Amino acid sequence: MKNTVTNTVLVLAFFVTFTHIPFTIARQNSTRVFYYSDELGTEGEFDSVPSALTFDNPRLKRAYVALQAWKQAIISDPFNFTSNWVGSNVCNYTGVFCSPSLDDPAIKTVAGIDLNHGDIAGNLPEELGLLNDISLFHVNSNRFCGKLPWSFEEMKHLYELDVSNNRFAGKFPTVVLRMPNLKYLDLRFNEFEGKIPKALFEKKLDAIFINHNRFAFELPENIGNSPVSVIVLANNRFHGCLPTSLGNMSSTLNEMVLSNNGLHSCLPKEIGLLKNLQVLDVRKNELMGELPFSIQEMESLERLDLSHNMFSGAVPQHLCSMPNLQKFNFNHNFFKGEPPMCLGLEQSDDGKNCFHGRPVQRSRLQCKMFLTRARSQDCSVFNCRPPPSPPKN
Ligand SMILES: *[C@@H]1O[C@H](CO)[C@@H](O)[C@H](O)[C@H]1NC(C)=O
Ligand SMILES: *[C@@H]1O[C@H](CO)[C@@H](O)[C@H](O)[C@H]1NC(C)=O
Ligand SMILES: *[C@@H]1O[C@H](CO)[C@@H](O)[C@H](O)[C@H]1NC(C)=O
Repeated sequence: MKNTVTNTVLVLAFFVTFTHIPFTIARQNSTRVFYYSDELGTEGEFDSVPSALTFDNPRLKRAYVALQAWKQAIISDPFNFTSNWVGSNVCNYTGVFCSPSLDDPAIKTVAGIDLNHGDIAGNLPEELGLLNDISLFHVNSNRFCGKLPWSFEEMKHLYELDVSNNRFAGKFPTVVLRMPNLKYLDLRFNEFEGKIPKALFEKKLDAIFINHNRFAFELPENIGNSPVSVIVLANNRFHGCLPTSLGNMSSTLNEMVLSNNGLHSCLPKEIGLLKNLQVLDVRKNELMGELPFSIQEMESLERLDLSHNMFSGAVPQHLCSMPNLQKFNFNHNFFKGEPPMCLGLEQSDDGKNCFHGRPVQRSRLQCKMFLTRARSQDCSVFNCRPPPSPPKN
């Protein structure tokens, strides 16, 4: 008898697991979102919900289904974050936050998930799309793997998505492009790879953190359309030119970190348009040529890191006397002329350049060989797209 029950359960489990597959396929091939919760989401559905449980409203019941599916998909939870994920009071679960619903303040719904620093291993099941009232989804510093579920597009209110420092892999999760209210996108420290969709830079985001992944891509010319205040692309495999359209971000951009990639061009003179930029870090790329004079017009600049590139020529005369500049690293380049003001900066590194009379410089021979190479200072060799011509009347 006992055996029969076990077998029935197994068969049921098999059935439930595999009946989901056709949905997954249908979802990816159709534009209309076909999502099994729509099929089951009416009253009296959700076979998996024990009938003894009562819920304050149907949305909390949907949240229960989502969270129980997630708990099933977790294989290690060393700090027991999810061990109290039992029963119908989902608002009491660790890491789950409820508040009045945005469209119906009379009812309470799950508004946020925060499992940061849980060290939890597992994956994110499609059922999480049932949490379609949430505005925050924070799971940083865990061991979640796999992909972001397609069903995340149901999260129409999602404002902050932080899946950083996990083990997500595969292509850029384009589902984030279909979240109309997303402002803060944090995918850093994962194993995402391949290209970044251009559409990312058309989205009304406030922050893009995709550093420390395996993205490989030429920065597209439409990057200048992005209204972000912070963009961090460091430690990927970006290559190609620094687009001139960066100058179009002047009213919004405060911080841009592009370090440790393979960017290979000159610094476009349009960079000087970034009057609100406080942090510019292009360390460890293959940038070349002379610095444009316009760099001295970046009046908000506090931290500038140009180190470990192949810049040459003189450091512009007034760069080091910019009013807000605190930290300026330009070591490991081929600069020749250094304005005296730069010696007065407290946090500055000018080592391994071609300065006369400064400590720890490159050898004369090395400097000479580099600087006599015809291509070392010619920006035209990169074939970067020219800036758009000014509008004609
Ligand atoms: C988690 O729960 C298990 C089993 O109840 C217990 O042995 C372990 O000490 C708990 N871990 C923490 C960090 O509380
Ligand atoms: C939820 O948590 C609160 C505070 O910890 C507690 O007073 C309440 O009894 C809990 N509700 C349920 C149904 O567990
Ligand atoms: C940058 O702005 C200029 C002037 O508004 C515009 O002509 C150009 O198309 C923009 N560049 C990009 C890449 O959007």
